[in-house]
Amino acid sequence: MLEKQFLEMSREVSECKLCELHQNRTKSVFGMGNPYAEIMLIGEGPGHDEDIQGLPFVGKSGQLLDKILAACGFDREEFVYIANIVKCRPPQNRDPKPEEQDACLVYLHKQIELISPSIIVLLGATALKSLIDPELRITKVRGEWLEWKQYQVMPSYHPSALLRNPSLKKDSWEDFKKVVVKYRELVDPAHKAPNDI
Ligand code: URA
Ligand code: SF4
Repeated sequence: MLEKQFLEMSREVSECKLCELHQNRTKSVFGMGNPYAEIMLIGEGPGHDEDIQGLPFVGKSGQLLDKILAACGFDREEFVYIANIVKCRPPQNRDPKPEEQDACLVYLHKQIELISPSIIVLLGATALKSLIDPELRITKVRGEWLEWKQYQVMPSYHPSALLRNPSLKKDSWEDFKKVVVKYRELVDPAHKAPNDI
């Protein structure tokens, strides 16, 4: 049921011209994972590898994200759904412009509504500001649960920030440990994470 709606919406996105990012895309990146997942991860937008493959977080940042998820016992296909603020790659990986984010948010809002996850993890400043509040600072609010609509929201660093600045990894790991604890509280008390959380 959800699969069909997602397929239809991803077709619509692949033909979308609501903002100028459509001009340079190879493939749009709608999202991937389990549409019935209780955890949704939200990044910024496709990079080079994502634009070619049409899938989110498949480049260097994605490999790091998969390591973090594996340590939490959250397999990408089963436990999470991954999407981005903008579905088409900004040229030279520049930040998506406010009007591009606003145009594309209609799709993300629909995805969130349909998936209706218990937990949303925001990866980086763009996801935080775009979805929740432009005044919030990722360095200030990361690691703190935010309540937004009916969702428990954990803002954390973007994996590319961790690649640029590995000293942030420790904080990021603390944030993801909180996600595991919350997942046990809200979804499955018996959830096992290999890294002894
Ligand atoms: N960075 C993002 O924000 N999203 C992706 O899908 C890949 C890299
Ligand atoms: Fe449409 Fe979003 Fe792509 Fe812009 S980024 S063209 S709004 S799908």
